Amino acid sequence: MTATITLVQGDITRQSADAIVNAANSSLLGGGGVDGAIHRRGGPEILAECRALRASLPHSRLRSSGGTPIGRGLPTGQAVATTAGRLDARWVIHTVGPVHQASGGDPALLASCYREALRVADELGARTVAFPAISTGVYRWPMDDAARIAVETVRDTPTAVEEVRFVLFDDRAYEAFVRQLG
Ligand code: APR
Repeated sequence: MTATITLVQGDITRQSADAIVNAANSSLLGGGGVDGAIHRRGGPEILAECRALRASLPHSRLRSSGGTPIGRGLPTGQAVATTAGRLDARWVIHTVGPVHQASGGDPALLASCYREALRVADELGARTVAFPAISTGVYRWPMDDAARIAVETVRDTPTAVEEVRFVLFDDRAYEAFVRQLG
């Protein structure tokens, strides 16, 4: 089965859903945009679980000049879950979107965020999942292309999730997703 897609214009941190997806960065330590909003409204429990997850991640591919691995990171396109803290949800699923410039606009990496988030949602037993428009802010992915990849990937991914709700922050994003749903 695939999920029913719905669109909402608004703030994802005010949504009620089994899982809310965060457009995180590989550090999992928060940031601006959706990431900042989720941590601000969700509270410190989310960051505490992110830190614990980081400690369990294999060394990232990042290496210092001496060739030794530095830091730990969640690779682009992968997803992990934590508590949703004070948000009206059971889980936050953190996924790391591709930076448009650095990835050369490779759609597979952005598609992986949606596919992996749905895989994690299925592992959790989530039935409603709210997504932001991943990579379309700081990571500067062109909105129409990001909306196309998001909608196509959700339509092509078998899942037990019943509703995928795209929560778009502004008119530009909302209209781009409306165009994709046709
Ligand atoms: N609810 C829904 N959508 C939001 C919200 C919100 N509260 N805040 C921002 N957005 C929208 C933005 O308008 C954009 O369309 O989410 C989309 C993704 O933008 P970003 O949050 O900047 O995420 P992204 O482009 O994936 O960049 C990720 O930004 O915040 C940092 O730590 C994050 O380094 C990571 C990078």
